[in-house]
Amino acid sequence: MIILLPVLLGIFLLGGAFIPAHEKARSGPEDPIARKVDSVLALMTLEEKIGQMTLYTTDWGSTGPTIRPGYADDIRAGNCGALFNSHTAAFTRELQRIAVEESRLKIPLLFGFDVVHGYKTMFPIPLGQAASWDMEAIERAAEVAAAEAAAAGLNWTFAPMLDVTRDPRWGRVMEGPGEDPFLGAAAARAQVKGFQGDSFDNADRVLACVKHFAAYGAPIGGRDYNTVDMSERTFREVYLPPYRAGVEAGAWTVMASFNDIDGVPATGNSWLMGDILRGEWNFPGFVVTDYTGINEMVSHGVVANEKEAGELAVLAGVEMDMQSAAYQNHLKQSVREGKVPEARIDEAVRHILYTKFLLGLFDDPYKFCNKEREQRVLLSQEHQDASRDVARRSIVLLRNEGVLPLSKEIKTLAVIGPLADDKDNLIGAWSGAGEGRHCVSLLTGIRSKLGKEANILYAKGCEIEGDDQSGFAEALAAARKADAVILAIGEHKDMSGEATSKAMIRIPGQQEELARQLAATGKPVAVVLMNGRPLVMPWLAENAPALLECWWLGTQAGNAIADVLFGDYNPSGKLPITFPRHEGQIPIYYSYKNTGRPFNPDSKWTTKYIDIPNTPQFPFGYGLSYTTFRYSAPKVDRAVFRRGQEVKITVTVENAGRLAGEEVVQLYLRDLVASTTRPVKELKGFQKIMLKPGERREVQFTLTENDFAFYTRTMQWAAETGSFDLMVGGSSDEVQTVRVTMIE
Ligand code: BGC
Repeated sequence: MIILLPVLLGIFLLGGAFIPAHEKARSGPEDPIARKVDSVLALMTLEEKIGQMTLYTTDWGSTGPTIRPGYADDIRAGNCGALFNSHTAAFTRELQRIAVEESRLKIPLLFGFDVVHGYKTMFPIPLGQAASWDMEAIERAAEVAAAEAAAAGLNWTFAPMLDVTRDPRWGRVMEGPGEDPFLGAAAARAQVKGFQGDSFDNADRVLACVKHFAAYGAPIGGRDYNTVDMSERTFREVYLPPYRAGVEAGAWTVMASFNDIDGVPATGNSWLMGDILRGEWNFPGFVVTDYTGINEMVSHGVVANEKEAGELAVLAGVEMDMQSAAYQNHLKQSVREGKVPEARIDEAVRHILYTKFLLGLFDDPYKFCNKEREQRVLLSQEHQDASRDVARRSIVLLRNEGVLPLSKEIKTLAVIGPLADDKDNLIGAWSGAGEGRHCVSLLTGIRSKLGKEANILYAKGCEIEGDDQSGFAEALAAARKADAVILAIGEHKDMSGEATSKAMIRIPGQQEELARQLAATGKPVAVVLMNGRPLVMPWLAENAPALLECWWLGTQAGNAIADVLFGDYNPSGKLPITFPRHEGQIPIYYSYKNTGRPFNPDSKWTTKYIDIPNTPQFPFGYGLSYTTFRYSAPKVDRAVFRRGQEVKITVTVENAGRLAGEEVVQLYLRDLVASTTRPVKELKGFQKIMLKPGERREVQFTLTENDFAFYTRTMQWAAETGSFDLMVGGSSDEVQTVRVTMIE
């Protein structure tokens, strides 16, 4: 797929103002950046062009960043246009200096890194952030991450990760927005805005990278890197929306995914990179591979060797080769042989040079390498406050039998569990430059909340993994002496993330047994879960006196959890993904289809298991509060409406308890009769509102024709007339319904 120059020229950025991609058609061929790009391109040899398309990695040694032998010479020779994993202001400044002072054309480097949920100040893992359903909080997390990354010499993050997934066996579930396209798209917009800001003139924002394009979150069996195969309708309705939202919000780069889809690896897929990304979405930036995605096409079996792999990738629309050196090793030969037109190389390089101009690197290559700023910005108090705030918004209260919130006047408190006094795991996987030593453990958070007077008994109880119960006795003795028990258990940070798929997603080791024995003491036990994925935990889910899903919350985890445990913050998170009762239910998601034989407990011949229920342990959208919210029956402004007319649905929500709190009011839709089968529920709106005790608020959603649309039988994105159920409530399984009908 050849990307034509007018597409690039049509991009924008006049006078430095950022114009979102969907408005780019406004600017014309007079784009001054494009003229500059062409003037540089005219000077370049083919080798230098291929160099711009090559992304190298650097490493991190015990004394700081290191560079591999020969790489500095390669920068000098113009063989590499970008680096990843290179960070700190000093290190990037030196590498940039080599590029702009010692290379022939003095083209500045891009510096990329996986700043997924924080650079130094860590925020909750993205799945946890999605549980906040709070787009301002998510944007703020990305903004702080960008500010720290940009202060440490980086100008590009490999985030947001926007892979919808319905399979918690897949370890990378922790890195994305969960199971839903609508919530995922909202999180995508918030993150892109946070990372990139409104203008590339800013020195405290970085380029975003929408990844992993596409449908990487749907590997068969939940095994990482595995085959993806699904209908185009499901692909477009469920998996594409978050990526699209990210691109439309202006994300300047996109990463191709490792997987194949419908038989074609994404890295060599011109339908994805050409037809959809450039054609349908008008993507103006550049596409990078995921790591050795090019070489891996040999193993996929669609090319015989690395050279053919490079040809397939570049012709499909992949502009930058991360790590594999396939472009560097073979592309020149491919051009000579006429397998790849040089014009295609030029197009790719234009996109990359354009980006460097856009960031202002030709004017100030050291814009992001400022040691003084780095020292001032990293881990600043302001960033700690932001992290604590986002962290407590991400916590989901799953059960509470009157245990929480605990009183701060408590005399003796037992704090137990392998994660209670742990700092290293709080940053979770994909933790950028984050370090456990900067984290506030739960024990420390509780101590600073209760002060020196409180009698806190700590016991580890057991390790995260293994069979050893020798610590149980001490833990049980502490519990018996205490007025209440807090038990912190879950996953080690390496148990979720890349290449950590699991067949059994249970709480590892002896931790659940420890919980059982502690609960048997009769003391009020609040279980704090720290983990990266939905877990199967039947005993806890049905018996824990209190259960808090705390994910991996980042640097301020301990303070944030203490805020919730002691009622300084009323939990408001809602699950962004279904928690199954059993792995055998996977994939399990709220937005399933009715089938011709919907579940009926009294009939064997319906869609169900004979050994476990269909229902999840905890549904999508679910989460408790310390107060209760009462919903009125929803009302619509018109029960019958014409195509093109808006429909307003209104509900009154009342805080019927004694504590102030936030509620996520959710709107779902079901199309009752359509030309294709439709899900029983699809999220179409949500609002997070704060209510004081006794306060009532009217919440209104406005639906337009587009909200009723789907891919019809003939694959048109359109709404069909007929009746729809609109459902409003505080969880996907607790809604009230009103019916509306659309007529021509
Ligand atoms: C991951 C990407 C990441 C890249 C660079 C790959 O293994 O799949 O998400 O951006 O490494 O670290």
